[in-house]
Amino acid sequence: MSKPRRSQDRQDYYYWKAKKEGYRSRAAYKLIQINKKFRLIKEGDRVLDLGASPGGWSQVAVKFGAEVVAVDLNPMPPIEGVTFVRGDITKNETFRAVREICDEFDVVISDAAPKLTGKWTIDHLISIDLARASYNFAEEFLRYGGNFLVKVFQGEEIEKFYRDVSKNFRFKKMHSPQASRKRSAEIYFIGKGFKKNRGPVG
Ligand SMILES: C[S@@+](CC[C@H](N)C(=O)[O-])C[C@H]1O[C@@H](n2cnc3c(N)ncnc32)[C@H](O)[C@@H]1O
Repeated sequence: MSKPRRSQDRQDYYYWKAKKEGYRSRAAYKLIQINKKFRLIKEGDRVLDLGASPGGWSQVAVKFGAEVVAVDLNPMPPIEGVTFVRGDITKNETFRAVREICDEFDVVISDAAPKLTGKWTIDHLISIDLARASYNFAEEFLRYGGNFLVKVFQGEEIEKFYRDVSKNFRFKKMHSPQASRKRSAEIYFIGKGFKKNRGPVG
């Protein structure tokens, strides 16, 4: 067996760690690291996990003591403590499906990502659309004072996205956890203390 190249060392480290510790994805460590630093999710929280499959983040949120509603285009094998909705986060019918389960969340997290085309600008623009769709869920379902985490691929639209979304949170930051690949375009927006009052539901 050939040795992993140096640039792949970290990726392989989290891949094997996830296998060993029973997480479905190496992405689980991104949420663990982000939560350690920013304390977004705590015991008893209701968490909405968007772009959730195969379920690493949902597993982590359950481990933190949260109750989770998870949404993805792809199926996701069951996890105790997680209600799964198969749907597209850009579609209204998915809002309705989530609302049938729960109409308010303490935390909205989104690791939703497009299938990569390899063309930086296209991947960036699709990722911004998904991040905005995720924010729409936050607007609809996040309680006053709640927390929001969303992945975005870096590019020219990120500043505008940051401006639009960050004004609605008391604390806001862009952050790249150690478990993200070194040369990855991904970065996470973290918003704490949602400032908006949600309108009447229904
Ligand atoms: C990087 S994976 C998420 C990994 C997950 N956080 C974990 O820890 O297992 C990105 C997910 O986003 C989902 N996704 C992409 N576009 C979506 C959309 N429009 N609606 C719902 N899910 C979407 C993909 O199906 C994929 O499962």
